[in-house]
Parts: sequence; structure tokens; C-alpha cells
Amino acid sequence: MQHRGAWKNRWTFMLATAGSAIGLGNIWKLPYMIGVNGGSAFVLVFIACIFFVGIPLMMTEIMLGRRAQKNPFNAMQQLALEANASTYWKYLGAAGMLAGVLILGFYSVIGGWVLSYIAVSTQGTFHNISATQSAQNFEVLLNSPITLIFWHSLFMVMTMSVVARGVSAGLEKANNILIPALFAILLILLGYSMSVGDMHAAYQFMFTFDFTKITPVAVLSALGHAFFSLSLGMGAVMVYGSYLQRNVSIAKTTIYIAIADTMLGLLVGLAIYSLVFANHLAPNAGPGLIFQTLPIAFGHMPGGSFIAVLFFTLVAFAAWTSAISLVEPTIAWVVENTQVKRTHATLVLGIAIWLLGIAVSLSFSTWKTVTIIFGLGIFDTLDKLTSTIMLPLGGLMMAIFAGYVMKKNHLQDELNLKRKAYQIWTVTNNYVAPIAIFAVFIYLLGLVS
Ligand code: PHE
Repeated sequence: MQHRGAWKNRWTFMLATAGSAIGLGNIWKLPYMIGVNGGSAFVLVFIACIFFVGIPLMMTEIMLGRRAQKNPFNAMQQLALEANASTYWKYLGAAGMLAGVLILGFYSVIGGWVLSYIAVSTQGTFHNISATQSAQNFEVLLNSPITLIFWHSLFMVMTMSVVARGVSAGLEKANNILIPALFAILLILLGYSMSVGDMHAAYQFMFTFDFTKITPVAVLSALGHAFFSLSLGMGAVMVYGSYLQRNVSIAKTTIYIAIADTMLGLLVGLAIYSLVFANHLAPNAGPGLIFQTLPIAFGHMPGGSFIAVLFFTLVAFAAWTSAISLVEPTIAWVVENTQVKRTHATLVLGIAIWLLGIAVSLSFSTWKTVTIIFGLGIFDTLDKLTSTIMLPLGGLMMAIFAGYVMKKNHLQDELNLKRKAYQIWTVTNNYVAPIAIFAVFIYLLGLVS
């Protein structure tokens, strides 16, 4: 097994997994999803999904990876053999790899937006910017395919060059500084938003829970986003778990990561919405939300240009560490099963995803009218297909596999939980999470037909 890397200790695993979880999902996606789905109703369901579905399934996924010590495809095959079940389970690993590739196809383009905002910030463009100007700047970016493709290409090169070297080299150290730094800068931003923004309105918008406002679509999106945000259902966490030593507590690590991930997203949300309401902007602006609102804050605060550069740089790093985990399952699979070198595999996969990203870049302008499924454009198709279908379905299958296929003593051995905790995990993994996901799918089928 000389191909396989391993984490040095529990801390590096935790940082790498947190690095995978914390990314554009928290900073870019969660805030706009809250706005599009009616605020607090979405937040409440999202938090419930993290606790009742996300945390147990993250434990399950790490457990599967660590037990097998293999890439998701081989892992599922081996675990199925171990449980005397059909080896068709390996295709669950394959589906996960595909999901990772499809996600990176658009993730890299948004990563490119962030990179371009670093460049723009250094020029002092945000100084005294108005809300209208800021929105216009973003529109101009969306309508410049060449610029989008340039930054997307850079993001892909950054991602694939780390993957080519192997996850445990270099990345571990970077995470050590970046995640705490991201939290620190967020606190600065939050402090600023508190002093000039309308924090009260933001708080009310996000946290006055009104159960009557919960819609089925909001539930579907919240569930999908819980998976996306925690990097679940596609093997990223499984492959990271496969590099993990036996003596680490899966439950504790999972809970820390899930809480940090959720808190971070909600803090960004508060910072943004207090600016949105103070500036009379629309909360449901969609994917451009942070790119339109944050420059207003940076443009008016002392030292704003510097803070803007720092902020977008940290977001770029957060996106980078997530992007790496999106392709790691596939690369690990190639390396462990074929003679192909890691570098070659990375290059080929990188080019394929890069091409996909070009299509996504064009979908904001030239190919705006191109639709793929259910009348959705290229970007929306990739986003919805992965977040609301592939990831929850992957998670559902993993839960079923762990809960109903694996041998109980293997589970207990690997999870190593106290009795009470084991019971809680069993109830959530075997009943709560599958039923919740299943119910949402049934609803989705109803919508489609
Ligand atoms: N969790 C990452 C984020 O929030 C995205 C991601 C999804 C990464 C699935 C890996 C797997 O940005």
C-alpha cells in the first residue's frame, strides 16, 4: 500500500476535513440560499438537517472510509464483500466520483469569481462604491466570458497542482493558519456590519422562526445544502477518512467540524444581511449576493481595500481546500487501481473539468438560453442535480449500507461509541436520516411528474 498517504495525526485530519467542508458553500452559497428561500424558514430547516442528517451521516461516511482504508469505489466493494453483500455497492463509490467532477465544474467558476475579486480589490475599485455600481460591476464580470474563463482556468491549475502532489503534502500546513484566519476576518466584517448595517433586521430575517413560512422547496434546498456544506454523499469525506488512523474519535471530530462549518456560514449570513437591509437591497439576489453586497462594506470602511483583499484571499483558500477534496476520490481510485501516474491522472481529469467549467462560464452570457434539464441552464443544472439529488441520494445509500448491510460488530468496532451515543447514531442513521431524505425525494418526484 505504498501509494496511500496518511494524516500525521487527528488534528491534520480534522483540519483537512474542515478544509473540505468550509468553502464557497458557507460563504457564497448559504447566504444567498437563505435569501432566495425566504430567510428564517430556511435557516431553521437547514440547522435541523445538519443535526439530524448531516452529523450522523458524516460519521457514517468517515467510518466507511476508515474501515476500508481505500478509495470510495474499492472501499464499498471491500465492505460489501466483508458483509457478504452484492459488490454492486461499488457503484455508489463511482456515483460519488461523478458528483465530485460535476460539482467542481461550477465550483471552479465561482472560485474564479473570487480570484477576480481579489484582483479588483487591490485596485481600490470599491472605494466609496454605491450599491448600484457594485451590482453593475458584477454584471459586467458575468458578461465577460473571457475573463471568467481566465480566472476559472487559474483556479483549476491551483487545484490540480495540489492534487497532483497528493493531499498530505503541503495542504495540511496551510489549513492550520487559514481556517482560524478566516474566522478572524469574519469577526472584523461582522463587527463592521454591526456598527453600520441593520443587524436587527438581519437577525429578524434569519432567526425569527415562523413555521408557517416553511415551504417544501425550502426543505429540499436546505437538505441538499446540508450535504453540500459538509461535503457529504460523494466520497470526499470517505476518502479523507480512509487516510485516518484507528485511534481517532470519529464522533467528536465530526461534531466539531459540523458546528464550525454551520457557525461560519451563519455569521457570513448575518454580516451580509445587515448590509443588505441597511442599503435597501433585495435579499433574494441569488448567486451574486456576496459579490454585490460585500464591496459596499469594504468600500466604506477604514482600510477597506486591504480588508477586501484579505477577505477574498481567504475565501479563495477556503474554496481551494474544498475543490481538492472534490477530485481526490477519483484520483485515489485511478492511482490505486491502475498503473497510471497520479500526475497524469490529474492532468486528464483536470482538462475534462476545465472544459465543463468553460461551458458554465458561457452559461452566464452567450449560452444563457441553453437549458439542460427541467428548463435549467448549465450552471443551475449542475448545481441542482448534484446538491439536491446526487449528494442526498449518495448519503441515503451510505446510511442504508451502514445501517442495514454491515455487520453490527464491525460498526461498533469502527465507530467506537459509548452505548448511549451509539443508540443515538443508530436511530438517526437508520431511521431519521433515511426517512427524511426519502420523503424529500418523494416530494421531488411529485414535482417532476
Ligand atoms: N463543502 C464544500 C463547500 O461548502 C463543497 C464540497 C461539496 C466539497 C462536496 C466536497 C464535496 O464549499
